[in-house]
Amino acid sequence: MTTTATTTEQVISGLEGVLATESSICFIDGHAGVLEYRGYNIHDIAERVPFEDVVFLLWEARLPDAAEAKTFRAELAALRAPAGQVIDALRLVPSSAHPMAALRAAVAMLAACDPHQEAQGRAANVLKAKRLTAQMATLVAAQHRLAQGLPLIPPDPARSHAEDLLRMLNGKDPDAESVQALDIVLNLYAEHELNASTFTARVITGTLADAYSAIIGAIGALKGPLHGGAVDDVQRTLMEIGSADRVRPWVEEALAAKRKVPGFGHRVYRVLDPRAVHLRAMMERLARANGDTRWVDIALALQDELKQRKNLNANVDYYAAPVLYYLGFPLNLFTSLITASRIAGWMAHVLEQYDNNRLIRPRARYVGAHELAFSR
Ligand SMILES: CC(C)(COP(=O)(O)OP(=O)(O)OC[C@H]1O[C@@H](n2cnc3c(N)ncnc32)[C@H](O)[C@@H]1OP(=O)(O)O)[C@@H](O)C(=O)NCCC(=O)NCCS
Repeated sequence: MTTTATTTEQVISGLEGVLATESSICFIDGHAGVLEYRGYNIHDIAERVPFEDVVFLLWEARLPDAAEAKTFRAELAALRAPAGQVIDALRLVPSSAHPMAALRAAVAMLAACDPHQEAQGRAANVLKAKRLTAQMATLVAAQHRLAQGLPLIPPDPARSHAEDLLRMLNGKDPDAESVQALDIVLNLYAEHELNASTFTARVITGTLADAYSAIIGAIGALKGPLHGGAVDDVQRTLMEIGSADRVRPWVEEALAAKRKVPGFGHRVYRVLDPRAVHLRAMMERLARANGDTRWVDIALALQDELKQRKNLNANVDYYAAPVLYYLGFPLNLFTSLITASRIAGWMAHVLEQYDNNRLIRPRARYVGAHELAFSR
């Protein structure tokens, strides 16, 4: 890796286009609309492998063979139940708390309850990655049920990650179509290069802090409405619009007010986000299966209107929101659900950062005052 000690005078707003590291985890071509995980095109893997295999791919840089996949799935499943104190801590969080705030608190407790929280080295960090990935799903479901005053559903290691997440959330066995759809959503969200939350995780890892600290920081970054928080806002927007015939006046008003429409625009993609292709098709399938095309009708009309007026493309969150809504997820839980997927990518980057670490410490161009007279 190049480590030249130069300081550029140019400020790159939002670090747009800046290459902050080398990485072999994820490739994005924002002009061609290409996304690859460890060299595999997202279109080839998103709908063909279970989430657990994608997690293995991201951490181990290759797809597992059949025996490895079986062992890995069993390992994750066996780690799905968090320590009792973590659930006790979650019970203390007020039900009015934002679900991502509750999740952040629960992960802090999960860290504190790991007797090896400070252990370093690849094996120790892979074990933390497995605990975090397995338990994030349990925590998302538990947080929701506690906030609703519902009894908790303990994990069932005989079930897949996606199936158990749905079961622990809803308290009943999910149908095969919903499990498959959630598996695809988890795969599509698992990794996306140096997005804001992943970069946050790498900055924290760069200080050689423990991996849990990196993930707690990443959860905080993902919560923001310009990042993962947008997915909650998309469905609220579709509901605010209410019907396809109200799209045009709504857009006129929103653009006149210089409002950013959730689910549109992207820092890297200049064409349609390749993940959105899968989610749009899934949204249409689920709408037909549910016999309710209202959200699809509004979503497609809004997409056309913004493309035509501002040449804006939908991003991954745009179609994910109605997908999750059709799947029965509560409106304020969408970002938490994405956390249960993105933990895989975050940990891949944490592992890569530890493997070749250098403190991440940029500069700021100072524009404040100098040499003020001090008198008191
Ligand atoms: C994702 C996002 C933060 C990227 O921000 P960015 O790279 O800094 O891009 P900018 O905010 O500078 O936007 C560039 C131009 O597109 C417009 N634009 C971008 N996203 C827009 C949106 N969602 N709605 C309306 N206009 C948008 C901006 O107004 C700006 O137009 P201008 O040049 O005429 O002023 C931004 O597109 C956004 O806020 N989107 C909505 C939130 C969202 O969906 N986030 C999830 C991302 S996966």
